[in-house]
Amino acid sequence: MTDTELRVSKIENGTVIDHIAGGQSLNVLSILGIDGRSDEEVSVGMNVPSNRLGKKDIVKIEDRELSQNEVDVLSLIAPEATINIVRSYEVVDKRQVMRPETVRGVLSCPNADCITAANEPVESTFEVLEDGVRCTYCGTIVRDSIASHLDSS
Ligand code: CTP
Ligand code: ZN
Repeated sequence: MTDTELRVSKIENGTVIDHIAGGQSLNVLSILGIDGRSDEEVSVGMNVPSNRLGKKDIVKIEDRELSQNEVDVLSLIAPEATINIVRSYEVVDKRQVMRPETVRGVLSCPNADCITAANEPVESTFEVLEDGVRCTYCGTIVRDSIASHLDSS
């Protein structure tokens, strides 16, 4: 796409999450804690044409650079995503997301009997599998809609 065809304007400073699989951008927003109540400046493109993916989603967030933890969870639902850090309108850093071996403190275990679900000072820990994540404490496997297990705290 040329600049004249850009659907979503360029940002001055912040993060562009590019090459998100078509339809996953709402889950990306949910992972980043962005909803109707946040006052962050966010642009979203859904199902925009992409040479590489056919169609893709794209999310642009002004004045925010993502933490490694956030990028790790993003990798579970958007393994193809590219994270671009923008400063003064220039892309200063471009990273491919990488699937981590474990994710800590970001997802909550759906098993009500799991020790991480009790009021104990235990941080949730999941091993990352090919097709989901497994709770290190009770072995529960989460495959579908990982974003719905995001720790709300
Ligand atoms: N972008 C933006 N604001 C800027 C600079 C870039 O929103 N000030 C967006 C671009 O629209 C693009 C993404 O950030 O979606 C990456 O920019 P760039 O590296 O310039 O584009 P490409 O070379 O096409 O990236 P890639 O090779 O990763 O597809
Ligand atoms: Zn568990």
